[in-house]
Amino acid sequence: MGEDSVVIRFENFSYSYPDTPNVLVDINLKVEKGEALGIIGPNGAGKSTLCKAMNGLVPHFYGGYINGRVIVAGMDTLEHTVAELSTKVGLVFQEPENQLSGLALTVEEEVGFGLAMLGYPREEIKDRVREALEKVGLSGLEERSPFELSGGQQQRLAIATVLAMKPEIIVLDEPVSLLDPIGKREVFEAVKELKKTGSTLVIAEHEIEELAYIADRVIALNEGRIVMEGEVDQVLADVEGLRKITVEAPSVAQLTHILRERAGLEVNHYPIRLEEAVKLYEEVLRK
Ligand SMILES: Nc1ncnc2c1ncn2[C@@H]1O[C@H](COP(=O)(O)OP(=O)(O)OP(=O)(O)O)[C@@H](O)[C@H]1O
Ligand SMILES: [Mg+2]
Repeated sequence: MGEDSVVIRFENFSYSYPDTPNVLVDINLKVEKGEALGIIGPNGAGKSTLCKAMNGLVPHFYGGYINGRVIVAGMDTLEHTVAELSTKVGLVFQEPENQLSGLALTVEEEVGFGLAMLGYPREEIKDRVREALEKVGLSGLEERSPFELSGGQQQRLAIATVLAMKPEIIVLDEPVSLLDPIGKREVFEAVKELKKTGSTLVIAEHEIEELAYIADRVIALNEGRIVMEGEVDQVLADVEGLRKITVEAPSVAQLTHILRERAGLEVNHYPIRLEEAVKLYEEVLRK
């Protein structure tokens, strides 16, 4: 892939909030068009801050101090407003309430809200709303009040409001952390559908087993620095590397690690997904 396909680029980027120094330190990162990048790391590592640096909220909204630069969809985030950037980068927050306008009476109105504010013609809004609701599996709920939705539905609605803007890049910051198991499942299914459509995705996520199915590549942050980076199968299988930064690898990787270390199991790679583990152990037990 050439340089043209890079849609997010951090160059020697460091950032301090007005009252918290060195939250991100010397970040160098490229995200290619169509790629799904996972961001992992312990609490306070800087994952959300990194997400906010992708749509200009850092530093335009939060202030603070920057070194280096961030180029998103060809735009230097320092030289463009959050409003301009938001047409290229859609950021989905942890809490759906922060995303939803609180003003729309129906789901349909909520999804079309941003477009209406931007003066899009009614027909185009209708088409985009339908498409966005379809992608997150909320078709049929157009007339519902956003407040009558379940947590999982609200978060999918939040994602739909972002999709309706047709951003080149979708950034999800722990989109399921406040949801119950059913809501989590619904949202992860919606994210997997997005991945299938070839959207460029960035997702900060604690639920590492789910991330194994979504991310192509993963970076791990610790104290504001990128400390691990690579293909998803490599980073999530690095049980000991992850443990050093207090992140738990997928259970099947941990189990395989224990069996190798303590029972002499002969394996040359650790599985990170359940199906792979089943296959691996069937082979191992056949021998
Ligand atoms: N608005 C803010 N003002 C000042 N400091 C902040 C602000 N937001 C976050 N911080 C600090 O920046 C650091 C990184 O926070 P951030 O929220 O980016 O971490 P995180 O990896 O997303 O954590 P979590 O897993 O808890 O979501 C923390 O030390 C946090 O206290
Ligand atoms: Mg966070």
